[in-house]
Amino acid sequence: MFISAIGVDVVFIMHDILSNLSNFSHFFQNLKLVPPSTPIAPKKKMSKSMRVLVTGAAGQIGSFIVPLVASGQACGPETLIDLVLLDLPQAQDALKGLVMELDDCAYPLLKSITTTDSLEVAFKGTNVAFMVGGFPRLQGMDRSQLLQKNAEIFVAAGKALEQHGARDCKVLIVANPANTNCYIMASQCPSIPKENFTAMTRLDHNRAVAQIAIKKAVTAGRVKRAFILGNHSNTMVPVVDNVQIDGQDVELDAQWVKESFTPTVQTRGAAVIAARQKSSAMSAANAAANHVYDWVVGTNDWVSMAVVSKGEYGVEAGLVFSYPCTCKDGKWAVVEGIEFSDDVKAAMKKTEAELAQERDIFKSF
Ligand SMILES: NC(=O)c1ccc[n+]([C@@H]2O[C@H](COP(=O)([O-])OP(=O)(O)OC[C@H]3O[C@@H](n4cnc5c(N)ncnc54)[C@H](O)[C@@H]3O)[C@@H](O)[C@H]2O)c1
Repeated sequence: MFISAIGVDVVFIMHDILSNLSNFSHFFQNLKLVPPSTPIAPKKKMSKSMRVLVTGAAGQIGSFIVPLVASGQACGPETLIDLVLLDLPQAQDALKGLVMELDDCAYPLLKSITTTDSLEVAFKGTNVAFMVGGFPRLQGMDRSQLLQKNAEIFVAAGKALEQHGARDCKVLIVANPANTNCYIMASQCPSIPKENFTAMTRLDHNRAVAQIAIKKAVTAGRVKRAFILGNHSNTMVPVVDNVQIDGQDVELDAQWVKESFTPTVQTRGAAVIAARQKSSAMSAANAAANHVYDWVVGTNDWVSMAVVSKGEYGVEAGLVFSYPCTCKDGKWAVVEGIEFSDDVKAAMKKTEAELAQERDIFKSF
C-alpha cells in the first residue's frame, strides 16, 4: 500500500484505521493529526437566544439542517439555540435518534431540543421556521396534485403560525413547490407582515455561483452578483450580466451561458437525483442555512431570496418571486436599478406566468 502525503496539511483519520497504520510512522511525520473534535467553544457568555423550528426534521434535508442550526451556522455564532423539531407521528422515533446524535455532538450553543408532531407546540414563540416537511411527488402525480397535497400542509401551518406564533417569526419555505407553498402560508397569516415569508432559491443561486467559479477556475467566494429570478423550477432565470470576480466586472462567454451554464443550473436537481438516486440534501440544507444566516446576520452581497413581490421590476405584486436581495438588521431589500436584457425580461415573463398559474390552481381548490 502506498499513501502519498506530499502537500497535505491536515488529515482526518478514524481511530481504528489509525491503529492499523501504526507501521506507517514515516507517513505521519509532517502531518498534524486531527482527532474527532469538539466544536470550538464560544468565547464570551451568550445572552441572546432564538427558538428555531425545523419541520420535516427527520427527513433528508431536515436532518442536515439541524446540525447547521445547532452549530451557529444559521443564526450566528453568538446566539443560543432552542431547537424545535417537527415531523409526522410515524417519524417521532427517528427524531429521538436525531436528538441522541445532537446530544452526542455537545454543541456549545444548543440550549434545548423539543420534538413534536403538534403545529401548536412547533410555532409557539418561534423566531425562525425552516419549513422543510412536505408531501413528495409520487410517480404519476402531476404538478397540480402535488400542489394540492402541499397546499393542505401549508394552509395548516399558516393557520398555526397566525394563531400561536411570534409576529416577527422569520419563515423560510424549502418544501416544493416552494414559492407557491410560501404564497399559501403567507395567505393564512393576515396579522404577520408579508416580509417575514420567504422561499428558497439559494440552492439555485449557489449552483450558479459554483458553475461560474468552476468555469473561471476561482474559488466560489470570489464570485459575486450572480442571481436567480422567479420560480424555484425549471423556468427560473439565472442572471449573470452583472457578475464580478474580486470586485471586477467579468464578461462570460454568451454561448457557454446559453448552452451550458443556464440549463445546468436549471436542471441540476434532476442531475443530482440521476447520479445518487436521491435528491439534493446536503447542498439544500447548506443553502437553507446560508439564506437564514444572511437574513438574520446581514450581508452586502447580492443573495437570491424568493419574497412576496411588491411589484419590483414589473412583477405582479403578491407573487412569491426570487430577486437579488441584500440584508441588514434582520430585513431584506430587493436590489434596485438593475438593467435587464431583453432575453432576461422575456424569461422573467415566463417564470412569472408559471407562478401566477400555480397561485390560480391553489385558489381553485
Ligand atoms: N427549495 C429547494 O431548493 C429544494 C431543494 C431540494 C428539495 N426541496 C424540497 O424539500 C422538501 C424536503 O425534501 P427531503 O429530501 O428532505 O424529503 P424527505 O422525504 O426526506 O423528508 C420530508 C420529511 O417531511 C416529513 N413530513 C411530511 N409531511 C409532513 C407534515 N405535514 N408536517 C411535518 N413533516 C412532514 C416527512 O415525514 C419527512 O421526514 C421536498 O419538498 C423537496 O422537494 C426543495
